[in-house]
Amino acid sequence: MSESVGTWLNQVFCEDALAGLARIPDGSVDLILTDPPYNLGKDYGNASDKQSVDDYLRWTEQWIDLALPKLKPNGSLYIFLTWRFSPEIFVMLKQRMTMMNEIIWDRRVPSMGGSVRSFSSVHDTIGFFVRRKDYYFDLDAVRIPYDAATKKARSRSIFVGAKWLEVGYNPKDLWSVSRLHREHPERADHPTQKPLEIIERMVKASCPPDGVVLDLFMGSGTTAIAARRCGRNFVGFELNPDYCAIISARLASPELDAPAPALEPEPAASGAKTAKPVAKRSRTAAKPAAKAAAKSAANPASRPVAKPAAKRPRTTIAALDDDEVAA
Ligand SMILES: C[S@@+](CC[C@H](N)C(=O)[O-])C[C@H]1O[C@@H](n2cnc3c(N)ncnc32)[C@H](O)[C@@H]1O
Repeated sequence: MSESVGTWLNQVFCEDALAGLARIPDGSVDLILTDPPYNLGKDYGNASDKQSVDDYLRWTEQWIDLALPKLKPNGSLYIFLTWRFSPEIFVMLKQRMTMMNEIIWDRRVPSMGGSVRSFSSVHDTIGFFVRRKDYYFDLDAVRIPYDAATKKARSRSIFVGAKWLEVGYNPKDLWSVSRLHREHPERADHPTQKPLEIIERMVKASCPPDGVVLDLFMGSGTTAIAARRCGRNFVGFELNPDYCAIISARLASPELDAPAPALEPEPAASGAKTAKPVAKRSRTAAKPAAKAAAKSAANPASRPVAKPAAKRPRTTIAALDDDEVAA
């Protein structure tokens, strides 16, 4: 029997997600947003990324079947993967849900040699799945504004009153967002930390305000931070106590209150003069503060690392070399 809301909401539990999911009542989560080990041999301080192919796929199916009952009927799921196992895992999910998108995250990896016997892999693959036709989806919350030059180029009378020009454009399914290199202000000490820009876009589009986001594999806690910053609740798990300490530190750092990174403006329309960005990209994380707090954080073995969230103001929106190398 699952626990009452007070004991699981806005907590990250430092434990195995497959055991911890029993804490969460069925049908209580609006969005599963998760970034599991890709099984590429990364060292997360555990063997989760170093399994045999059969074990990895069996384990994946196991957690999927434990997690999906937690979703509300109109809930959604986003899963980060790479080309290595996305075909198999997308099939598993398609047997259980409806696939809405395959989103390509272009990690903006610079050209620096790389593979010589194949093409360098510079993207992650994100699957977006829903349970029912009436799934929650708020496109307006994640539209990207056109820049001033494009708007100006569309100022002729035929465009007057064009709502699409005012409300901005659909972010589409190709997301070109720089990975978090080592010097990035948002970067914590986790090898595969995802950028807030991406996670916040998913949260705003697919979880209603005050809703609940579940991440089984929290890593450095990006999903929890994004949920707080967007006025949503979170719950999740992380196996490695060092990463749990990072999550505590991030949840206590000014990163939470910093303005969200700026949106990418649409490139200038043909005929428009070179566009200036609509807003400057702001620095989000106070990395030194997060690091200092992480040092002093107690070892949080198998207990929640985060306290219930205070409501945060709504924010606006603001990825690795060959297969998921964070820096
Ligand atoms: C790809 S990383 C997640 C990174 C995260 N999205 C971020 O932005 O920091 C996957 C994480 O899952 C954790 N993990 C692996 N197996 C787990 C399990 N059974 N339960 C909970 N966490 C687990 C790993 O320790 C690792 O930190």
